[in-house]
Amino acid sequence: MQLDERLVVARAVAREAGALLRSSLGTHLAVRSKDVRANLVTQVDTQSEALIRKRIGEAFAEDAVLGEESGQSAGDVEHRWIVDPLDGTTNYTHGYRCFCVSIAFERARTVEFGVVYDPMADELFEARLGGGATCNGATLQVSHRADLRDALLCTGFPPYKGRSLATSLEIFAEFMHRSQAIRRDGSAALDLCYVAAGRFDGFWEGGLHAWDIAAGMLVVSEAGGATTDFAGGAATLDAGQIVASNGKIHEAMIETLRRHA
Ligand code: IPD
Ligand code: CA
Ligand code: CA
Repeated sequence: MQLDERLVVARAVAREAGALLRSSLGTHLAVRSKDVRANLVTQVDTQSEALIRKRIGEAFAEDAVLGEESGQSAGDVEHRWIVDPLDGTTNYTHGYRCFCVSIAFERARTVEFGVVYDPMADELFEARLGGGATCNGATLQVSHRADLRDALLCTGFPPYKGRSLATSLEIFAEFMHRSQAIRRDGSAALDLCYVAAGRFDGFWEGGLHAWDIAAGMLVVSEAGGATTDFAGGAATLDAGQIVASNGKIHEAMIETLRRHA
C-alpha cells in the first residue's frame, strides 16, 4: 500500500513546511483568535497546511487529510493523513523557538507512521508502527528513571480558562510536589517526542486534538514508552487527553491523575 512512499513524502513535506515556519519567524504576522482570545492562528499556520495538503494531494490524491486549519477533506478515510501544520502557534507568535510540524498517517484507523519536525533544532523525529523511533536517523529510547521524585515532567494547558483550569492547576501542584520539576513548553507534539528521546520522563495534557498527538504518540510507544488516557486506559486520538511516559513512572502518574478525575 505504498507506505514507504508515503513516509518519503511525509519527511520531505515536514522539512519543507518547517523551512517555511523558520523563514517566516519574526516577520509581520496576521494573528487572529479562534474561539477564545488565547487560541491563536496566523497566516503561517494556514500557508503551512496548504503546502502540506498540496504535496500529499500531488502524490496520493485519493487519501483523506485531517488538518487543524481546514478540517477533514473528502477522500478515502481508510488512508488518512493527520496534520498539525504548526504545533506551538502561541510560541511562534512570540518568537519562542519551540514549535514544529506534525504529520501522521493512519491506515484503517491505525497510525502507521508519524513524523515531527522541529525546524529550529533541525530535528526530524520519526516512528513507524513496529519499526522503532528515530531522531535524525538515530534510534530513540525513553529514559530509565523509575522514581517520580527524580522525574522531569512536562505538561500543557488548553487555551480555555474555564472551570477545568482549576482542576488542571491542582494536578500541576501535586506533580510539582511529587516530581523533580515540570516544564510547560507549548508544543504537545514536540513534548511527546522529548519523552521518546528521554529528555522528559513523562508528559500529561488534556484538551488536545488528534493532530496534536497522532504522530508523537507513536514516536513515544516505538521508543519503548507508555501512552494512556488519564485513567490508565488505552490512549486514543479522540480522547482529548494523554499521559506519555518512560513506562516506569506511568503508574505513579496515573495514580495522581485518578485522584482528580
Ligand atoms: C497547542 C500546543 C500546546 C497545547 C495546546 C495545543 P497549537 O497546539 O500543542 O502545547 O498546550 O493545547 O492546542 O494550537 O499551537 O497547534
Ligand atoms: Ca497543535
Ligand atoms: Ca496548530
